[in-house]
Amino acid sequence: MEAGDLRGVVALDGPSGTGKSTVARRLASRLGASYLDTGAMYRAVTLATLRAGVAPDDEAAVLPIAEAVDLRMGTDPERPTVHLGDEDIAAEIRGRAVTLAVSAVSAIPGVRELLKAGQREIIARECARAGGIVVEGRDIGTVVAPDAALKVFLTASSDARAQRRARQDAAEGRVSTVDDTRQDVDRRDRLDSSRAAAPLRAAEDAVRLDTTDLDLPAVLDRLLAIVDERGLRGVAAERAGW
Ligand code: DC
Repeated sequence: MEAGDLRGVVALDGPSGTGKSTVARRLASRLGASYLDTGAMYRAVTLATLRAGVAPDDEAAVLPIAEAVDLRMGTDPERPTVHLGDEDIAAEIRGRAVTLAVSAVSAIPGVRELLKAGQREIIARECARAGGIVVEGRDIGTVVAPDAALKVFLTASSDARAQRRARQDAAEGRVSTVDDTRQDVDRRDRLDSSRAAAPLRAAEDAVRLDTTDLDLPAVLDRLLAIVDERGLRGVAAERAGW
């Protein structure tokens, strides 16, 4: 990828089902930027934990697993990838077993410290290479990239989030009902928001956007307008005289 239009980091946080992943990927594509899904990193460590037969809340046993994983994140927004060593784990980390266990693993402070360091490394590398990166997660604006040029916190009603999540599950071939999904979404939000280490919350200087009644193009238009208002399009845009 050549240097794109975005200058710096866009942090996109919020609970699941707000459209965060789709918005983050499309925004990165439109800006020629890199893309990082930090939730996938917590999911990958969770998968390794389950495979090792370790309880996801067993801090002392999970930490060495997190330290040992060979986690490789692909940052192309058109084709983001997640590998453990050479193994493509993109589908498996979205399954029910990982989804049920990931909040416990991501509540472990040592795991968060490790992944934060890895995330910062990827962000620095991609900013140097591509000019900018869109990073999605729960604590990007508050902890991982507190100096991000733009912080966005997406929200949506619990119903809208459950429906989107169930549609996404169906599209990707996973069996779920809206009721099950609502329970999952609510349970994870409760756990993610109440944990002591880097809980899910909006940074004070984040732009809050409620996506309940907005479709994807409307959310993207709004975010691209903010990127432009803040002058975050870089050299490529300036060269083209935009
Ligand atoms: O976005 P997701 O549903 O794939 O995230 C999976 C879990 O990982 C989520 O329940 C909370 C956790 N997570 C986190 O604690 N911090 C992040 N930056 C990203 C995800």
